[in-house]
Amino acid sequence: MAQNKPFPNENMLRHALGDLDLFLYPVIDSTNDEAKRLIKSGTTPPFLVAANEQTHGRGRQGKSFYSPADTGIYMSLVLSFSDGESISKITVIASVAVCKAIEKLTGLKPEIKWVNDVYLNGKKICGILCESVIGGTDLTPVIIGVGLNLSTTDFPEEIKNAGSLFSDISRERLICEIVSELTALSGVELNAVLSYYREHSLILGKEISFVINGVSQKGTAVDVDSSGALVVRKSDGSLTALNSLFSITDY
Ligand code: BTN
Repeated sequence: MAQNKPFPNENMLRHALGDLDLFLYPVIDSTNDEAKRLIKSGTTPPFLVAANEQTHGRGRQGKSFYSPADTGIYMSLVLSFSDGESISKITVIASVAVCKAIEKLTGLKPEIKWVNDVYLNGKKICGILCESVIGGTDLTPVIIGVGLNLSTTDFPEEIKNAGSLFSDISRERLICEIVSELTALSGVELNAVLSYYREHSLILGKEISFVINGVSQKGTAVDVDSSGALVVRKSDGSLTALNSLFSITDY
């Protein structure tokens, strides 16, 4: 059952976010879907959508994102970009922004599983879904959807190994810090965050499995290149670069 006042520190949130338009909901299907509807009805970026609960939270590759009431952050920040490369760049950068926000406020050291899942103590605590909306102008709105488990415990069977942050920091503080990092990092080149990304990588140096053209393959994750692709050394010694459309099936 959702709380009566899902964002008790709403005033602090509105104050801290300044001019950024804020759309808060006790419950919504998906904050990314609501962001798309807002764009279509003429709302101009930047703006933030956040909900206490999602009934149809979406993840990457058509998966759903478990989003129960009161126990997580479900938010979509919408920013405008002028260059076509932005969606792949922001896909990588968003995980750095979330990790930095968590590190700054909690002192914990989360890790990133390529491409942008955030892990803590070996468990996934955060997923990020970036989507762009093609419009009629030179500026493309990009929706950066962040789902962060704060105190979720009863995960469904298919994601029973997921975890939560379990921190005393308020949801509103964390949202502000994530927005602040995302906004700051959205303006930098991918190269500027790659050393942080590599230092926080959960998989560099590890053997991973991945699927190319329906065929499962194994290799060692050796680097993340300047386009955000994961560089993998296969058993025959050859290198292959996986872009963010691929996913790692095991590591
Ligand atoms: C993943 O783990 O594959 C990505 C999950 C992204 C979930 C967030 S929650 C807020 C936003 N709204 C959604 O429907 N999805 C993203």
